[in-house]
Amino acid sequence: MMFAGEKPISNKVMEIRKLQKEDLETRVLWMNDPKIYSSMHFEVPILMDKTIQWYENNLKNDNRFDVTVLEDGAIVAFGGFTSINREIGKAETYLFANPIHLHKGIGTRAKKLICQFGFEQLGLNKLYFITNEDNFASIRVNEKCGFKLEGRMRQEYLTKDGERKDRLYFGLLKEEWEVKDEQ
Ligand SMILES: CC(C)(COP(=O)(O)OP(=O)(O)OC[C@H]1O[C@@H](n2cnc3c(N)ncnc32)[C@H](O)[C@@H]1OP(=O)(O)O)[C@@H](O)C(=O)NCCC(=O)NCCS
Repeated sequence: MMFAGEKPISNKVMEIRKLQKEDLETRVLWMNDPKIYSSMHFEVPILMDKTIQWYENNLKNDNRFDVTVLEDGAIVAFGGFTSINREIGKAETYLFANPIHLHKGIGTRAKKLICQFGFEQLGLNKLYFITNEDNFASIRVNEKCGFKLEGRMRQEYLTKDGERKDRLYFGLLKEEWEVKDEQ
């Protein structure tokens, strides 16, 4: 029998901030993990010196905004906004979570915070992301945040077995986010 006071209580505090140089070591480590790179489109290995260069070049790049997501003070995910179009008010989003703590709800909580940041802090009107058709975790996470399928880009990439697969384009408008947020 369990009394009310015995039940573990978790009140994790998730926060989001601009990517900092001190985060890069963790970012590089996670990007070199097959659980991360196998569903994303970048070449491995990701090298630390190149990443520092990339980070420093981006300090003056207005077209992207990279973030670090922390929970109880520890980094739990990386994400951000790329192809930022200020005139239209839209940006592509990306996200990857700690590869040793997947399927625990972190990705969903992190993506919700990224959306909130994009709409409220960056003043964007539309967020979108493009994912492999078989990236079920990513699709599920984004659907839970309210993203809607807008298009299918047919035979857009090759799997490691040489199979041609589609990529899916999902979008979320600020007005949909606000309605969902009120529910
Ligand atoms: C996508 C990613 C951020 C999700 O992080 P996470 O912390 O595991 O996500 P969550 O635990 O919040 O949610 C995962 C959801 O996907 C579902 N899911 C996971 N694998 C699945 C599969 N093979 N089939 C169907 N659903 C699946 C889970 O059941 C869960 O949904 P639920 O809460 O309704 O049960 C993480 O997998 C990741 O970093 N992947 C590598 C990078 C990547 O692909 N990023 C997206 C590129 S666009």
